[in-house]
This record gives sequence, structure tokens and C-alpha cells, in this order.
Amino acid sequence: MALERTFAMIKPDAVARGISGQILQLIEENGFRIVAMKKHPISTKEADGFYGVHRERPFFASLVKFMTEGPSILLVLEKESAISAWRELMGATNPANAAEGTIRKRFAESIERNCSHGSDAPETAAVECGYYFSASELL
Ligand code: RTP
Ligand code: MG
Repeated sequence: MALERTFAMIKPDAVARGISGQILQLIEENGFRIVAMKKHPISTKEADGFYGVHRERPFFASLVKFMTEGPSILLVLEKESAISAWRELMGATNPANAAEGTIRKRFAESIERNCSHGSDAPETAAVECGYYFSASELL
């Protein structure tokens, strides 16, 4: 198992509700190293590109509106098998299906307002980390 990096977001719902600190605590308690972090209001253009794979899905317009309603916290996280480990800590997309103790089970309000994002593969992780952070910001 090699150290791996993933891109993570604390989405606008969680930032607005003041639970980003609790989510950051879970990140550190679960052994992730925070390589980079910034608070950033995602623009419509950015959300459109970021979630472009879902453009044809019925929830796309609503998702873009949600992701642009306020600032998110953007993160690069490092751990062994970070991509799958972070998705495991987040839990299933729909909080109704998320396992006990996961972020989405504990905090998410709905399948859309689900508090967090995680890359789904090494290729997307590399692209997403580069989307928001330059090499000099990865510390
Ligand atoms: P993410 O990309 O944000 O980490 O979430 P994910 O992989 O678990 O889920 P994905 O299928 O990639 O969906 C991206 C985000 O779109 C919203 N969504 N809404 N209303 C719906 O049926 C629906 N389905 C997905 C969620 O915010 C989801 O995280
Ligand atoms: Mg996804």
C-alpha cells in the first residue's frame, strides 16, 4: 500500500451549518494528513466543469445551484489508499444508505445536501487536486 492523495470538499451546506470543524476533526482522527486547504466560493462555471460527468443527469442543474450557494472548503488529503479511505469515511451518496459513523450518515440532510465530496479514482483525484491547487500549495 502506497501513500496516495485525494481531493476532498466540505460542501456549502456543511460550511453554512458550522460543522466544518467537526468534519476536519474526523479527517485528522482517521489518519489523513491535510496537504492543502482553502475556503473558496465555487463559481457556476467551476461547478459546471467539476461535475461535468453528470451534465445529462436530471439532478445536474440543482447540483450546480447547491454547490454555488456559498463557499466550500477544498482539501487535498493524504493517506494509504486515500481515495477509497476518504470515500469510506464519507459514506454512501444518499445518507439513507450510509453506514453508521460516516460523515454523510451523521450530518447529511439529503442525497444532494450531503456535506462532502471525494474523488472516485486516481485519474480524477489528480485532475481535481490540480483544478484548485498549484504544486507550491501542496505542503
Ligand atoms: P461526490 O462526487 O460529490 O463526491 O459524490 P458521490 O461520488 O458520492 O456521488 P455522485 O454520483 O458523483 O454525485 C455527485 C453529487 O451530486 C448530488 N446528487 N444528487 N438528487 C440526486 O439524485 C443526486 N444524486 C447525486 C450529490 O451532492 C452527490 O454527492
Ligand atoms: Mg462523485
